[in-house]
Amino acid sequence: MFSSHVEQAGKRQANADVMADILWRYIQPSSVIDMGCGLGFFLNACKARGATIRGVDGDWVKLEDSVIPKSARRTADLNLPYAERKRYDLAATIEVAEHLLPERSESFVADLCNLSDIVLFSAGIPDQGGAGHINLRFQGEWAEMFAAHGYACFDPIRRRMAAFEHAHPWLMQNVLLYVKDGVEISPLLEEHRIVPRAASSVGYWHYRKRIRILRQRIRNLRGED
Ligand SMILES: C[S@@+](CC[C@H](N)C(=O)[O-])C[C@H]1O[C@@H](n2cnc3c(N)ncnc32)[C@H](O)[C@@H]1O
Repeated sequence: MFSSHVEQAGKRQANADVMADILWRYIQPSSVIDMGCGLGFFLNACKARGATIRGVDGDWVKLEDSVIPKSARRTADLNLPYAERKRYDLAATIEVAEHLLPERSESFVADLCNLSDIVLFSAGIPDQGGAGHINLRFQGEWAEMFAAHGYACFDPIRRRMAAFEHAHPWLMQNVLLYVKDGVEISPLLEEHRIVPRAASSVGYWHYRKRIRILRQRIRNLRGED
């Protein structure tokens, strides 16, 4: 599963660094937990910016591939409830929820809300493509789940990611920030508050890919090639 992550380590770390740079304009978390951290690129970026880190992922991740220390890692099956007594300044989960059982969605969001007042959330949308995706949803559905816990949605990252030449398309499309009502935020972040259905907006990259696939299907049906 992680061979492509290892092969693309430089690009993945660069994306994580750009995302952390954007995020740090708005919040400066001292402690970060990343649920489904993979090899740990995002946490590595957080650590470089002074945060203490905790990464959670399956026991199938090879430690020799990890870019964060073993001591920062914890193994867990995220299809099962996850709880810690500690709360973090930021809970992140990047392209993980689409791999979890659909019936786990609400309780996964509840776990994230229990871990922090601020959640960085990214998960694949329908027809995104990729392996092992069993729970693809538009972002608005996740936003509604967070709203049920009193977390508002903010969209300060997606468009700024797009300014990075080597941005992963899924980060330009999917990364949102959720903040618990009542938590003080900077006016800079306040400007990026959106309603849940606005979270579902789909970007150019995804649109173009879908049109290409649909055109190919039409050609196939017509027997054109
Ligand atoms: C697409 S990768 C994303 C990794 C990392 N967040 C990143 O952005 O580089 C999906 C991650 O979810 C983890 N994952 C999927 N299902 C899981 C489960 N049931 N329990 C724990 N981790 C899981 C995988 O091991 C993998 O690290």
